Amino acid sequence: MHPSPVTRHPSSAKRLLSGVQPTGNLHLGNYLGAIRNWAALQQQFECFLFLADLHAITVAQDPAKLRAHVRETAAAYIACGIDPKRCAIFPQSAVSEHCELAWILSCHTPLGWLNRMTQFKEKAGKHREEASLGLYGYPVLMAADILVYRATHVPVGEDQKQHLELARDIAGAFNRHYGQDYFPLPEPVIMGAATRVMSLRDGTKKMSKSDESDYSRINLTDDADTIAKKIKKATSDSFATMGETIESRPEASNLLTIYGALNNLSREQALAECGGENFSAFKQKLTDAAVAHLAPISAKMRELLASPDYIDDILRGGIEKARGAAGQTMQGVRERVGFLEFSAG
Ligand code: TYM
Repeated sequence: MHPSPVTRHPSSAKRLLSGVQPTGNLHLGNYLGAIRNWAALQQQFECFLFLADLHAITVAQDPAKLRAHVRETAAAYIACGIDPKRCAIFPQSAVSEHCELAWILSCHTPLGWLNRMTQFKEKAGKHREEASLGLYGYPVLMAADILVYRATHVPVGEDQKQHLELARDIAGAFNRHYGQDYFPLPEPVIMGAATRVMSLRDGTKKMSKSDESDYSRINLTDDADTIAKKIKKATSDSFATMGETIESRPEASNLLTIYGALNNLSREQALAECGGENFSAFKQKLTDAAVAHLAPISAKMRELLASPDYIDDILRGGIEKARGAAGQTMQGVRERVGFLEFSAG
């Protein structure tokens, strides 16, 4: 039997896919670097936005917390403006095709490609020999997440760029092996004023969910007092004004980036507005902007989390849509690979 021809979505149809690991502490970096952009793009694409719970277990997770964080992350998506009627929102683990495709793709991924992944090197650190196969294969699962929907656009923060390049390489390797452009090469969409938000404590380190200091990040669930305290304690320096040689001052530069992103200002506009201020006056302005922006998001999250059944209904709908799309892709993959087909009954 010949593989069925590639069923492309109509050429105008563009599919967007992205996800966040539900590991708690969703922060301003996740929002400005990723989720906000999904909300801005959702009208132009068919969207698949998942909770990356399979990726989350590449490091130890408490089962009860993981369950809670999946609902919390889904609530954050919606509170940040993702419309669940328009976008499929679902936990990755509920669509088994992600794992099935990850295995097949892993057979087309040379070890040399994985050895170049900087995030694995950072996460495994000196304990490489004890790192799990799951952590090592993490980027292959990411490629499967994208390709199982034949997604065309993947909006992420700067830190995921290398993983997306690998996903394109893997798609190319599969296509070449089976002699057909079955998978579109996914485009990374790294957009907005804050593609890499840095830690409030150290302007050379990325703002991260796993930083042990909660003062390093602003969480989407932080209240006004907490935000004010964190910005007040954010590392500053002794320059007289914000504008002075700002590009060589990582902490000042990062805070200005955040301010600009929150107010939809370009770097030049943010500098023109705040360059003459001293650090403490600027921090007050930044606090006001962050509180004004995040208060409605955390209020909406609280409201949604008070109705877990509502969230679960949304996830159920998302799972159904995702399974349909992923199942279709996998049928074509299985035919191309040469697996025997046994219909039910
Ligand atoms: P995760 O959970 O680390 O981050 C989710 C999204 O937030 C972005 N991000 C940031 N952007 C700007 N500044 C920061 N400090 C910052 N920290 C995080 C990330 O770039 C990301 O877009 N591997 C992914 C999840 C994933 C995925 C995928 C994404 C799994 N499969 C397939 C896209 C496509 C991750 O760990 O994201």
